[in-house]
Amino acid sequence: MTLTRDEAWKRLALHPDPTLQELFDADRDRVDKLSTRLDLGNGAERFGIVFDWSKTHLTDDLLADFEGLAEAANFPEMRRRMFAGEVVNPTEQRAAEHAALRGVGRDTSVEEAEALRERMKLLVGAIHEGALGEVRHLIHVGIGGSALGPALAVDALGRDEPLVDVHVVSNVDGVALEEAFAACDPATTLLAVASKTFTTIETMTNAHSVLKWLADSGVADPTGRVVALTASPEKAVEWGVDETRILPFAESVGGRYSLWSSIGFPVAVATGWEDFQAMLDGAAAMDRHFREADGRGNLPLRAAFADLFYTRLRGCQTRAVFAYDERLRLLPDYLQQLEMESNGKSVGVDGEPVGPTAPITWGGVGTDAQHAVFQLLHQGTHLVPVDFIASVEAGDTLDPAHHTILLMNCFAQGAALMAGRGSDDPARRYPGDRPSATILCDDLDPATFGALIAFHEHRTFANAVMLGINPFDQFGVELGKEIAKKIERGGEKFDPSTEALLKAAGVG
Ligand code: F6P
Repeated sequence: MTLTRDEAWKRLALHPDPTLQELFDADRDRVDKLSTRLDLGNGAERFGIVFDWSKTHLTDDLLADFEGLAEAANFPEMRRRMFAGEVVNPTEQRAAEHAALRGVGRDTSVEEAEALRERMKLLVGAIHEGALGEVRHLIHVGIGGSALGPALAVDALGRDEPLVDVHVVSNVDGVALEEAFAACDPATTLLAVASKTFTTIETMTNAHSVLKWLADSGVADPTGRVVALTASPEKAVEWGVDETRILPFAESVGGRYSLWSSIGFPVAVATGWEDFQAMLDGAAAMDRHFREADGRGNLPLRAAFADLFYTRLRGCQTRAVFAYDERLRLLPDYLQQLEMESNGKSVGVDGEPVGPTAPITWGGVGTDAQHAVFQLLHQGTHLVPVDFIASVEAGDTLDPAHHTILLMNCFAQGAALMAGRGSDDPARRYPGDRPSATILCDDLDPATFGALIAFHEHRTFANAVMLGINPFDQFGVELGKEIAKKIERGGEKFDPSTEALLKAAGVG
C-alpha cells in the first residue's frame, strides 16, 4: 500500500541517529553500497563519474523509506510528465523541456530543438569562418539564467586557446561593462544579447551601452554586430536585430535551465561546435539515466534523498559545494540560482505551506576555501552537508604535483570532517561526524561537464517533487522589480527608510 507523503515523512523521522563512524563499523560494504560509478556516453565516448555518499548518514533503511517518499510524492509520474513535455509548472501552465534541447523528450520538441540548434550551428560556423568580418571578442549580455550558465561553461571549457574571447556581463553596474570594454577591440567585437523575455532592464541597458560604445568607437553598423538569443524573437526584431542573427528557443525552456539552448551560443563560439555538442551529449546521457533508473540507483534522486535528509531531518539550513577544480570556480554561483530560485518556496503546488525547502547553497573552490571558510565547517556550530567535486585528470599541464596536492586535500577534508579529533583542549577538539559527498569525474571534458550540470538540474527537480513544490516558477523575484519600476516612474511614496535612502542618493 502506498503511503501518503506525510506518512512517509513520519516514518523517516523515526530512524535512529548513528554516527558516520558507527555506520562504517557496522557495514563493511558501505562504500560499495553508497558509492556508485556511472558510466555515461555511447560507444567510443565513454566517460565516468563516481558519486560517493558513504560519508553521509544515509543507510539502507533510510534509503528504503526515502524510496517510499518518492513513491508517495508521485515521483515516477512527475518525471514521466517532465520528459513527455506535459505541464509541470502549474502556476504558469508550462512544460519544462530543457532535456528536449539535449535530444531527450517529446519527439516534436526534440525535433524543434534540433532545427533551432542547426540554425545556431550555421551561425556559429559562419562567424568562425569570418562571414561577419574578423571576430576576436564577444560581449555576451544577459542576467540570471541568461548569464550564469554561459559564464560557468565558458570558464570551464573555453580556457585553452578559445576561438573567440568571451566576456559575460550581467550586472547593470557599469563597472562590469567597462571592464569588458577595456579588454575588447570594438572593431572585432560581437554583441550577444541573451534574454528569454528580451525585456530585462539590466540586459537591455547593457545592450544599449554596448551599441553606443561600438558607435562611439567608429563601428559603421553596430546593430549589424548583434546576435539575439531569446524566446521572444519578435521583441528582438523590434529592437532592431536582423532576423538572420536571432537565435530563438522555446518558451517551455526555463531561464535557469537554458544553457543548452541558444543561450549557450557563447560556449559554442568560444569552444567550437564539437565541444558544445559534446556538452549536450553528456547531459543527454544523464537525462537517460535519470529517466530510466529507479529508486536509490537513480543518482540525482539519491542526491535529493541526502539533501532532504539534512534539510528536513537534521535541520541544516545550508549546503556547501566545493569544487577542487579551478575550472569550476563559478559552479556555486550557478547552483545558487538553479537551486534557490527553483526551490526557494514556502508553499506547495496545492498552495498550502510546506516545511523547510531549499537550503541556502553556497561554496567555493578548493583549496582556497580551506584557508577561508573551512574553520566553520570543522568546528563551527552549524552542521553543513558538503559536496566535493573533483576530476582525476588534471586541468593543467604543470608538474603533476599540483594536481596530486589538490586531490589529496580534497579527500583529506572529507576524511577530517567525518573523523574529527578528540583533544583535552576544547579549542583543539574537532567534533567530527560531519557529512560530505564526493563527486569524482574521470576528466572534466565537455561531456562530463554536461552530465554534471544535468545531474544538478535533475537533483533539483527530484527535491521539488518530494517537497511537493513547483521548481519552475520564480514569482519571488517580481516584487523588487516592480518597486524599482515605481521608483523610476516617480510619484509614489514608500516606507520612511526607503524614502530617506532615495533622498540621500538623489535617486527617483
Ligand atoms: O529575475 C529572475 C529571472 O527571471 C530569471 O529567472 C532569469 O534567468 C533572469 O531573470 C533573466 O531573464 P531573461 O532571460 O528574460 O532576461
